[in-house]
Amino acid sequence: MYPRIRNLALYTFSITLLACVFYLRKEAKLAESSADQKMDVVSHKPKSLVLDNAEPTKCLPNLTLANSSLALPELHRVFLTYKHCRSFPVLLKPPRCSKELFLLLAIKSSPINVDQRVAIRNTWGKEVSIRGKNVRLVFLLGRSEAKIQVPPLHQLLAYESQEFGDILQWDFIDNFFNLTLKELHFLRWYMEDCLHARFVLKGDDDVFVNTYNIIEFLQDFGPEQDLFVGDVIANARPIRNTKVKYFVPEAMYGASFYPRYAGGGGYVMSRETVRRLQSTAEGTELFPIDDVFVGMCLAKMSVTPKNHPGFKTFGIQRPFNAFDPCLYKGLMIVHKLNPTEMWIMWTLVRDDSIRCAMSVEKKLPLSPAGL
Ligand SMILES: *[C@@H]1O[C@H](CO)[C@@H](O)[C@H](O)[C@H]1NC(C)=O
Ligand SMILES: *[C@@H]1O[C@H](CO)[C@@H](O)[C@H](O)[C@H]1NC(C)=O
Ligand SMILES: *[C@@H]1O[C@H](CO)[C@@H](O)[C@H](O)[C@H]1NC(C)=O
Repeated sequence: MYPRIRNLALYTFSITLLACVFYLRKEAKLAESSADQKMDVVSHKPKSLVLDNAEPTKCLPNLTLANSSLALPELHRVFLTYKHCRSFPVLLKPPRCSKELFLLLAIKSSPINVDQRVAIRNTWGKEVSIRGKNVRLVFLLGRSEAKIQVPPLHQLLAYESQEFGDILQWDFIDNFFNLTLKELHFLRWYMEDCLHARFVLKGDDDVFVNTYNIIEFLQDFGPEQDLFVGDVIANARPIRNTKVKYFVPEAMYGASFYPRYAGGGGYVMSRETVRRLQSTAEGTELFPIDDVFVGMCLAKMSVTPKNHPGFKTFGIQRPFNAFDPCLYKGLMIVHKLNPTEMWIMWTLVRDDSIRCAMSVEKKLPLSPAGL
């Protein structure tokens, strides 16, 4: 037990250290850039062009929709008013994917979630090759909301991007209602820069991914067949209670059920499915809930999302014993974990001496899940 506690302490310490380094660098850069600006004023160099890039992109609101949705909550109104704005410039971009990429881990993150990204890079996101298969990690981000738009965050991201080459950021506000926009932009980037990846795991930055099990599972499939696997929900009803985060008015979605969809915490897809998803998404109206949006596209494509019990995107039943090796048997993804839990799980998954069993559940249930 003691070595583990020591490792944990070490890990906590390194995160703190990293935070300090970030902070110091930011201070230095800040001083530098304000010095630059002062010099620009004096010499009238047109250097502000670079800064203009950081300005919000202009796409005019649809006032007809704004006026006709006055009765809706503010966020929904904003969503409808800007729904037609579907293309935003890229702010930070990682290098292109290499030819031999087997699995791309595409993780939705917010600019402020530095600690989650550090934890992922140090745990399940750190392997570049598993069983001889290449794995790669990228984080998908928007811009932080104006109220937390502190300049250091912007610089920290530029630094992260430079240091780790894993930041993919676009010029739209990173909030819950813009996740569909993130989905759409990610799919476009995949088509342009990462089409070599045979499989994609798309997930949140608070999940633990058992990359070993995922790779073992995917080995039995080909990238040119449709494949979409996750924690599938069938017959979910739109929430009509305005107080709930997932509220959707009838004006936005009239039917009483959503199509089958996989929880957005984490699911895997084959190249063929991602490719078709991209072209289908281009012709589909944005919907504020991103995993439901993907479900809508899959329905159009006649792809049935398959359920797998190892994807626990609605959280694992608590309390759970993270030290129980059998917890990891067949486990693919667990949602809603903090960096410490992530680290404990990762340590145990890699500890060969405490394996419960090696085999992964490979069969997919034939009957619709979630019933
Ligand atoms: C605004 O929304 C209305 C209703 O959906 C639509 O008919 C109209 O074409 C939209 N206008 C613009 C400029 O997008
Ligand atoms: C929307 O409402 C505003 C304020 O009431 C009004 O000035 C504007 O003309 C309206 N626009 C449309 C397109 O209905
Ligand atoms: C999504 O991002 C765009 C661009 O930053 C912004 O104009 C819009 O208000 C955001 N949508 C919501 C629902 O906040």
